[in-house]
Amino acid sequence: MSLAHALFYGVELHFMGLVIAIDGPAGAGKSTIARRLAERLGFTYIDSGAMYRAVALWALQREIDASDVHRVTQLAEAAEITLGAQIHLNGEDVTELIRAADVAAAASRVAIIPGVRRALVEKQRALGQEGNVVMEGRDIGTVVFPAAQLKIFLDAAPHERVKRRVTETPGAHERTVAGQIADRDARDRSRNESPLTQAPDAVYLDSTRLSLAEVEEEILKLVRARMTNGKEFH
Ligand code: DC
Repeated sequence: MSLAHALFYGVELHFMGLVIAIDGPAGAGKSTIARRLAERLGFTYIDSGAMYRAVALWALQREIDASDVHRVTQLAEAAEITLGAQIHLNGEDVTELIRAADVAAAASRVAIIPGVRRALVEKQRALGQEGNVVMEGRDIGTVVFPAAQLKIFLDAAPHERVKRRVTETPGAHERTVAGQIADRDARDRSRNESPLTQAPDAVYLDSTRLSLAEVEEEILKLVRARMTNGKEFH
């Protein structure tokens, strides 16, 4: 188990094997918040969506359609994906490539395939097994780490999620982005295998009217509450 500590409200806290799971729809701010939180706590940040994007990119490069369940599953099983400041797929830096809109759309298609999910969930569990991780995605609190000590379901109104994506994507058009997000949300929520849903024990956080700093503060309050009410993280 890994041990991390953070100076937190003036108190030195020690964490052992803690998993913070952040799930929610596209554009809710999960990545930014998860990264900031990990930095603040001295944890490892794990972007599970980047793995689905990497598999989708590889399928696109090989011209394998997402409907070819067998071959896409083979890619997911064979893919060597490393996460960090840069994301590598089979040794190639794909950090920028996986952010393209066509890769995002393909990612939500390959994410429907049970074999792909099985392969990637296994990789995610291996990455998180040491603990002291902030992992974000769609099924982290429900499937990947159902025993995570803190689960957040981070949401925001659709118009706000579209606005945020448009702001962070140069040249993006609001109507196009709205369509892309609506399609992805529909696929992510309606698939049979591990659909996007709030875990019963997740804390629902609506970030529509909150700044990044406010969302971060809310989550840090939850971390502190869990640390001080007898549910210490070890
Ligand atoms: O978080 P993101 O936008 O990078 O995710 C890309 C796609 O991957 C998303 O549309 C659904 C899928 N995904 C998933 O099914 N499960 C996860 N844990 C993370 C992402």
